[in-house]
Amino acid sequence: MKRIGILTSGGDAQGMNAAIRAVARSANSAGLEAYGINYGYKGLVEGNIELLDLDRLDGIIKRGGTILYSARFPEFAEKEYQIKGIDQLKKFGIDALVVIGGDGSYHGAERLTQHGFNSIGIPGTIDNDIPGTDFTVGFDSSVNVAVDSIDKLNDTATSHQRTFIVEVMGRGAGDIALWAGIATGADAIVIPEHKYDIQAIADKLNKNRENGKDHGLIVIAEGVMSAQNFKEELDQHGDFDSRAVTLAHVQRGGQPTAKDRVFATQLGDYAVRLLLEGKGGLALGVHNNKLIATEIIDTLENHKHQTDLSLLELNDRVRF
Ligand code: F6P
Repeated sequence: MKRIGILTSGGDAQGMNAAIRAVARSANSAGLEAYGINYGYKGLVEGNIELLDLDRLDGIIKRGGTILYSARFPEFAEKEYQIKGIDQLKKFGIDALVVIGGDGSYHGAERLTQHGFNSIGIPGTIDNDIPGTDFTVGFDSSVNVAVDSIDKLNDTATSHQRTFIVEVMGRGAGDIALWAGIATGADAIVIPEHKYDIQAIADKLNKNRENGKDHGLIVIAEGVMSAQNFKEELDQHGDFDSRAVTLAHVQRGGQPTAKDRVFATQLGDYAVRLLLEGKGGLALGVHNNKLIATEIIDTLENHKHQTDLSLLELNDRVRF
């Protein structure tokens, strides 16, 4: 093996650049060249591929976004495009591929491996919704962005005796809401994995008021409903001087945390070592603090991401 290709696909996430850097540097230290594929699978099919030299990698470990850009390209589900992609890789003398992204990106890596081109997936998404890993690259950073914003909103909530309803991202998963909610002392955390009781939430806010706490915070995952819709529902159950805030894409931006940088570096290096052993079709991750590699097919078809619902119980105990 002489050359490894790297691409990022799906929504960008903090730490993707750290993963790109780790793959390239680890490849270089094993005597291989690293090639970056711009614009995900679309760029792969178009042959938008270039050498990742030291200049390109310099300083990127601390940068948000992805220097390789990202694009949606559903056409890659078709065999015709997969073969075109492999032809491009071969044209550039690339022997194996690392894909950084979500479950859609994993499907592409799996199909390439089935056509005989070894490819490995690194979980890169803020949502933490990929099976086969306890955490994804970008999750920790996005939680920290959310916490920083909610702390600021809490200042105004306190000054003006208001209740803020803050909507965080996560697609269908409540992980960001759970972590950000616990870290900011939310009165209630509303996630898709657990049915909420609006009357119980209103009762809790009223009880807080009786006990002298006249401001409130509800963190809601986007997979349940918008903050605005939840506010309208809550307003039917009392006057909390509520305000709805949607954090949106700010959660995907900014510098990755140290945790995401280290995690991305470990996974990038692990991917190179596995490819050097001639392996492909694997999804990388971490389980109980240990790096793991699982078969993409089995991971996507037979496993589901499990949101840690004990965190919801934890919040109920500390915020009863
Ligand atoms: O998957 C990352 C994510 O930010 C989700 O949390 C969110 O639902 C979605 O992407 C937003 O997609 P877009 O960037 O296309 O608006």
